[in-house]
Parts: sequence; C-alpha cells; structure tokens
Amino acid sequence: MRKIILFLLSSILLTIGCKDVKALKEGTDKESSKEEVLEAEAMHPGKGLMERECYICHNPKASEVHMIAPPMAMIKLHYIDSGTTKEQFTRAMVHWLNDPQQESKIPYAVERFGSMPYIPYPEKVIEQITDYMYDHELDRPDWFADYLENDKQGAENTLEKYNYATAGNAEKRYANKGLGHTLAAKAQLGRNLMKAINEKGAQGAVEFCNVKAIPLTDSVSVMRNAAIKRVTDKPRNPQNQASGKELEHITFFKEQIASDKNVEPIVEIHDDEVSFYYPITTNTMCLQCHGSPNEQIEPETLAVLRNLYPKDKAIGYEINELRGIWSINFETDSE
Ligand code: HEC
Ligand code: HEC
Repeated sequence: MRKIILFLLSSILLTIGCKDVKALKEGTDKESSKEEVLEAEAMHPGKGLMERECYICHNPKASEVHMIAPPMAMIKLHYIDSGTTKEQFTRAMVHWLNDPQQESKIPYAVERFGSMPYIPYPEKVIEQITDYMYDHELDRPDWFADYLENDKQGAENTLEKYNYATAGNAEKRYANKGLGHTLAAKAQLGRNLMKAINEKGAQGAVEFCNVKAIPLTDSVSVMRNAAIKRVTDKPRNPQNQASGKELEHITFFKEQIASDKNVEPIVEIHDDEVSFYYPITTNTMCLQCHGSPNEQIEPETLAVLRNLYPKDKAIGYEINELRGIWSINFETDSE
C-alpha cells in the first residue's frame, strides 16, 4: 500500500517537476522583462529554483506528517563539511541528481521516504541551486531544526524511528505531532542551556534554569499551540511534580528503559484533545546538575542548587535514566 501511494505521489510530482523544468527552459530562452531582471538581482536565482524544483518534496515547511523527503538543510549537513569546496559540492549534487539510485549518503532517508525519483534537471539549474545552497543558510523545519544543531545523531534516530511519511492512523499521526513538540521544546531548552553553561559554567546555568526553564517551555507551548510540560517523580522544582496518571506512565517508561526496550510515545485520544507522553532521559551533560553531589556536581554548583531548591529530589542520576517525561496536551485535528 505504502509503495503504491509513494509511487502515485512521485508520479504526480514528477509530472509537475517535468512541467516546471520545461517552463524553466522556455523561460531562459525568452527575453526577460525589466521587472524580471530587477527581481533576479534582488534575489539569488538559485533560491527560487530550489524552492520551486526541490521544495515540492524537500519542503522545510511541511509538517512532520506531510514530509516526503528530508529537508534541504539536512541534506546540506550530510554533503558539506568544513573541508568541502563549492565545486566538490556541486559535482556531488550533479552526480546525485543524474542518478538518484546510487548509494545514498543518508541511508535512513531512503529507508524512511523511499528513493528519490530521477528528474531531468538541466545542469545549469543544478549549478544555480547548489551555488545558493552552499552560500546561504537554508530554512529548517521548526520541529527539529535547532535540535539538529545540538544533537544531530538524536534527530536522525528520531526520524528513523517514526515514519513521518506514512503515519496513517490517528494515533501515529498524533504521536508524530507530539514528538515534533518535544523536539521544538528540547531545542529551545537545550540551546539556551548550552549557551548558559558555556558563558557562566554549570553553577551560573543553574540560575538560568531556575528563572528560564518554565517560561521557555511556555513560549514553545504558545508557538506550537499546545500545553507542554516537563514533569517528574523526583522534582527539583516542586511545580514539576507528576500527577497520578503521569506517575503511572513514568513507572511504565522506567521499566521499558531498564529492559532496553524501544520506547514509544504514549498517546491518549479524548473527545477533542490529545494527551501525549514521552520519556526524558539523562546524558552526560545532565549529570553536572542531576548527578551525584561532589562526584559529578561541583561543590559550587551544589551550593547554588541547595540554596534555590531546598527540597531538591533531582540528584543522584546516572546516564540513560528516566529523569522525567514530556506531558503534552493539544487539540485533535479537525477533519
Ligand atoms: C519528487 C520528490 C523529490 C524532488 C522533486 C526532489 N527530491 Fe531530492 N529526494 C527525494 C527523496 C524521497 C529523497 C530521500 C531518498 C534518498 O536519499 O535517496 C531525496 C534525497 C535527496 C538527496 C540526498 C541524497 C542522498 O545521499 O541520499 C539530495 C542531494 C537531493 N534529494 C537533492 C535534490 C535537489 C537538489 C532537488 C531539486 C533540484 C531535489 N532533490 C528534488 C525526493 C525528491
Ligand atoms: C546547569 C544545570 C542543569 C543541567 C546541566 C541540567 N539541568 Fe535539568 N534542571 C536544572 C534546574 C535548576 C531545574 C529546575 C528548573 C525550574 O526551576 O523550573 C531543572 C529541571 C529539570 C527538569 C524538570 C523537572 C524538575 O526536576 O524540576 C527536567 C525533566 C530536567 N531538568 C532534565 C534535565 C536533563 C534531561 C538534562 C540533560 C540533558 C538536564 N536537566 C540538565 C538544572 C540543570
């Protein structure tokens, strides 16, 4: 079934793609009007070409459910590293577009989305697109853009685990949506926390978390039109104490993590609202503030923590333990 849909989809898109390419060839043959010239000057030609030719599938604005190919920013990440020249990048792209059946640099994308259909782009078009891609920041989908910056591998694992392209039933669709919310919130917190630690050390970053953690999560809630919370059985801030139902889910996730099971989000669909739960686990970075006092937590940091959180229960963690869960509520889709 999935194959058929993908096939139909790519045939439709392929038709659009070909038409566009034809129009494009005609366009370059025609005399450009003065307006067009001005427009072209104002904007890199590769930008419009990329948006028209490639965004049909590689659209960074597509919701996670509607994505049918990895966003261009992700492709760039896999094709350009610090040593790649523009010429090398262009050659690699021309090479790819001439034969998208060749060995992929992003194998999980092939697995996820199926392979890219061959579309006969004129070499000139590809060159303009790659010229633009190489020199400019590309749009990133809001649900994992920043996350990607902090944790490339993590984002890939997430993408790999949840098949955004084929999420058919409501539960899966809402799981993807909820996951998108956690990625956005994680990115917001992660980026700001990383910055605070770099600037002020763990000790200074504690104060940052104290003041900012909840407002930052709230700001993502507003952005994503969802109620996003981090809750836990062992809170640092008493406001983050998990409720009865959340505690049940915490117990369940703990068992799963302990037995090395693949953890799936929990999705509960009510009349017009969805409740979504997903584990928050620890990594090395967290232990500076959630590890064992005087082993991972420095005495200065501990002093600040004790002062701000006299009833702190969120210490003594090791890596890959359940620190808490995302507890997110949002409206059901109106059909
Ligand atoms: C009809 C849909 C579609 C269009 C249009 C399309 N792509 Fe793709 N592309 C895909 C899919 C699906 C994948 C993921 C599968 C893969 O990696 O092979 C992909 C992957 C890629 C990759 C990753 C290759 C790798 O190593 O895996 C590159 C590079 C790429 N596309 C470039 C482009 C460029 C540049 C354009 C526009 C000129 C474009 N694509 C237009 C569907 C499309
Ligand atoms: C610089 C110190 C610091 C680091 C590093 C840190 N945290 Fe925290 N964490 C805090 C503080 C302070 C709070 C309380 C925030 C508040 O008052 O809202 C907190 C709260 C939390 C909460 C909310 C529940 C509660 O206990 O109040 C979770 C969940 C959490 N942290 C997980 C993590 C994870 C996962 C990591 C690593 C990826 C991490 N933290 C890294 C300091 C830190």
